[in-house]
Amino acid sequence: MRLSKEQLERFDREGYLFFPGQFTPEETCALNHAVPELYSRREAYNVREKGKDAVRTNFAAHMYSEPFARLARHPRMIGPVMDLFDEQVYMHQFKINGKAAFEGDVWQWHQDYGTWLNDDMMPTERAMNVAIFLDDVNEHNGPLMFIPGSHKKGVVEAKHDLTTTSYPLWTVDNALIETLVDRAGGKDGGIVSPKGPAGSMILFHSCLVHASGSNLSPWHRVSVYLSLCAVSNHIRRFKRPEFIAHRDFTAIEMLPDDCLLKDYTVDLPWKDGLPASALQTSSVPFDEMKKAA
Ligand code: SIN
Ligand code: MN
Repeated sequence: MRLSKEQLERFDREGYLFFPGQFTPEETCALNHAVPELYSRREAYNVREKGKDAVRTNFAAHMYSEPFARLARHPRMIGPVMDLFDEQVYMHQFKINGKAAFEGDVWQWHQDYGTWLNDDMMPTERAMNVAIFLDDVNEHNGPLMFIPGSHKKGVVEAKHDLTTTSYPLWTVDNALIETLVDRAGGKDGGIVSPKGPAGSMILFHSCLVHASGSNLSPWHRVSVYLSLCAVSNHIRRFKRPEFIAHRDFTAIEMLPDDCLLKDYTVDLPWKDGLPASALQTSSVPFDEMKKAA
């Protein structure tokens, strides 16, 4: 899938592109069906909401679940990002966020690249998120909120929030959010929330400031996020476990466009469980690790 000139310009201006109904119900069917069993697993890769059993984020399903391994190679998700970077990409992070009915907690205001820089030492912002909705997303079930154009600010100041939710995040404080929203149009478009049917896709810049509210509705809001990084921009530190920030920088080889409808063979390196190495961490930067070896 190629992006048009108009789409490239809009992406540059607003920092995101929304593709309602990018995948059909037939295509998302196997993905949807696989989620409850993945969430039921008592594994480190299932991070639950603070004080609850509901899964907030399942990490790295593309390493142990066939339907998600196929999605992780889908040309409609990978193609546009390779197009934008003019380079091959690898999977930096893969998550299935639950945002469960009644239970799904907030995601504080943040830029993803803030966390990738501060925790993983990713050299530049040449990495991108592609989200796909597995449930319909409406104004009630905690849609993503974006501040259009906020990616143009580059990396903004952030603090490491270890307490608000069950998942540590580098978050942006309220005063700066207020300024950014004002600059983006205030009440007139300063915050946008793409909403649409299951199968819709969003592509968003790694510096775009975003958040989502809690889900008090009776509807789940399961979404999958592929965080794709240009191969040359791979992370330089392994401070977070490998199931959160991947260490295999091999370029993704795309499958054919019908890969969610046919059983193409995919490699599932973690199908028998997480290797011990995927849990190990090191705060030493890559270069120093290499020198010491
Ligand atoms: C994220 O920002 O990584 C996730 C936000 C959400 O799922 O609402
Ligand atoms: Mn994010």
